[in-house]
Amino acid sequence: MRTYKLALPAVVSAVCLALSANVTAANWKMAIGDSAGGTQYELGKRFAEEMDKRTDGDIKVNLFANGQLGSEQDTLNNASMGMLDLSILAINNITPFSPTVGVLTLPYVIHNAEEAKLLTQGEIGKELAENTIRDAGVRILGWAYSGCRRLTNSSKPVASPADLKGLVIRVPKNEIMLASYKAWGVNPNPLAWSETFTALQQGVVHGQDNPYITIDAMKFYEVQKYITNSCYVFSLEPLVMGEGKFQSLSPEMQATVLEAGEAATEHSYEYLLAEEEGIKKSLVEKHGMTIVEPANDEKEWIEQATKIWPRFYKEIGGKEKLDEALAILGREPAPDK
Ligand code: MLT
Repeated sequence: MRTYKLALPAVVSAVCLALSANVTAANWKMAIGDSAGGTQYELGKRFAEEMDKRTDGDIKVNLFANGQLGSEQDTLNNASMGMLDLSILAINNITPFSPTVGVLTLPYVIHNAEEAKLLTQGEIGKELAENTIRDAGVRILGWAYSGCRRLTNSSKPVASPADLKGLVIRVPKNEIMLASYKAWGVNPNPLAWSETFTALQQGVVHGQDNPYITIDAMKFYEVQKYITNSCYVFSLEPLVMGEGKFQSLSPEMQATVLEAGEAATEHSYEYLLAEEEGIKKSLVEKHGMTIVEPANDEKEWIEQATKIWPRFYKEIGGKEKLDEALAILGREPAPDK
């Protein structure tokens, strides 16, 4: 009798606990544009682990890699409309919806990982994140740092812009990047990321550009031979949540989500520093790719591409926005025109 009296509350509370766990447990869907193994996936995986740990398993984040949930630009729309919880996509695929982030995709503004971190984690990053909520309806929770975008192609070594002649290059649907290629004298082919591998495989396009880690994760070495070791854009890949979804969370859960995003961002930075060199080496030694150094320390690439900057001042919120970024990086203000 005595035992029964003691056991009943224990049983009741165990049932209540189980019920409350069921009630609060949630599965969130995260779209990832790249294949598993790249920087996007690392960011997503760490975010999911952090959420699991910080909520005692109440929030499970399920990762859908390789564009399974649609093109990167579609997943941004879906997150914004509340049809998807989370997405990780390249910044260049956010720019069309939130033009001020274009300051981070202007050619030759960010030169390396350290500069990328400085801009994204400082005042500029905060302002761009606010603008992205306003313009695109999604909140940036964290950043994947993926490295410089390198041009790859299947046909010939490309050391200077003149070597691009005769090549059809796939470029994201991003006006700044399209204009950069036009400045180098080619007419690029704007294609969604999810269609890029097939287009390269079928020879519809000869080349594309993305960081070493992405080239490896996407197995582009199966369909590409040459890599130009240039660095015209540093690839940043934000993790975003629909703002409607974010606002539907309790203040405590919002804080948890933001902290998980910060922890995942830090991990992404460390991952890039630890992995990029090894992956570059394996693209050559294991997968037989050839790395071509840009001629004249990239002089022609830089001179021709940076001429497009003034055309985008209005879109990025004024020349002063670029000047602010350049000042943080210790550089001279941009030209007026
Ligand atoms: C693109 O080229 O569209 C993206 O930058 C690729 C990516 O998301 O990794």
